[in-house]
Amino acid sequence: MMLFDMEKPQGFDPYEVLTRLVVPRPTAWVSTLSPEGIPNLAPFSFYNAVCDEPPVVLISISKRENHQRKDTSRNILATREFVINFVSEDLLKEVELSSRDFPPEISEFEVCKLQEAKAYKVEAPRVAKARAWLECRLLKHEELFDYDLIFGRVVFAGVESFEVASLKPVGRLSGKFCRIVEINQAPNQP
Ligand SMILES: Cc1cc2nc3c(=O)[nH]c(=O)nc-3n(C[C@H](O)[C@H](O)[C@H](O)COP(=O)(O)O)c2cc1C
Repeated sequence: MMLFDMEKPQGFDPYEVLTRLVVPRPTAWVSTLSPEGIPNLAPFSFYNAVCDEPPVVLISISKRENHQRKDTSRNILATREFVINFVSEDLLKEVELSSRDFPPEISEFEVCKLQEAKAYKVEAPRVAKARAWLECRLLKHEELFDYDLIFGRVVFAGVESFEVASLKPVGRLSGKFCRIVEINQAPNQP
């Protein structure tokens, strides 16, 4: 048995314990537009759906070491909108690449050679290759410790197919990705 006093961590990193035990986490691959009109794309796995009436998601975005906001938070606070692109197994290379710390004037769409597609209700572009996406408007922003908590109201959704075999969803399992497979029958489709 390993025991961890998470209030007084000594000799271990609470992040490692948390991200190994809160699993699997979905990854929000968030596309935004800067006020100057430059697209931005980055993944966040401290993410989940928190309400369904109305549909609301929550993303937790840490500040950088110098306490500056990440580009995604800055863009969302400035434009009040974003798109969450669904992460499928075949997009993992691009997801990893888009997580690197590029300056705001560089578009991760270009770095990752990903085509942009127009969203339906928001100005932020979406990843054309993503098999599903959620268009969101900022509902609420909270600062908690050194994190920006972004509550997004989902105003539009698109999906090629709800079949798991087609979506090829992945989860975040400690520092790695894992496949999500069904154990029992599929949930009812809308
Ligand atoms: C799979 C994955 C999950 C991540 N999850 C988070 C997260 O939940 N919160 C966070 O602040 N950063 C997370 N990151 C790191 C951000 O993607 C990274 O800081 C990125 O550079 C932020 O980009 P931006 O400045 O364009 O917003 C994650 C990275 C990867 C690869």
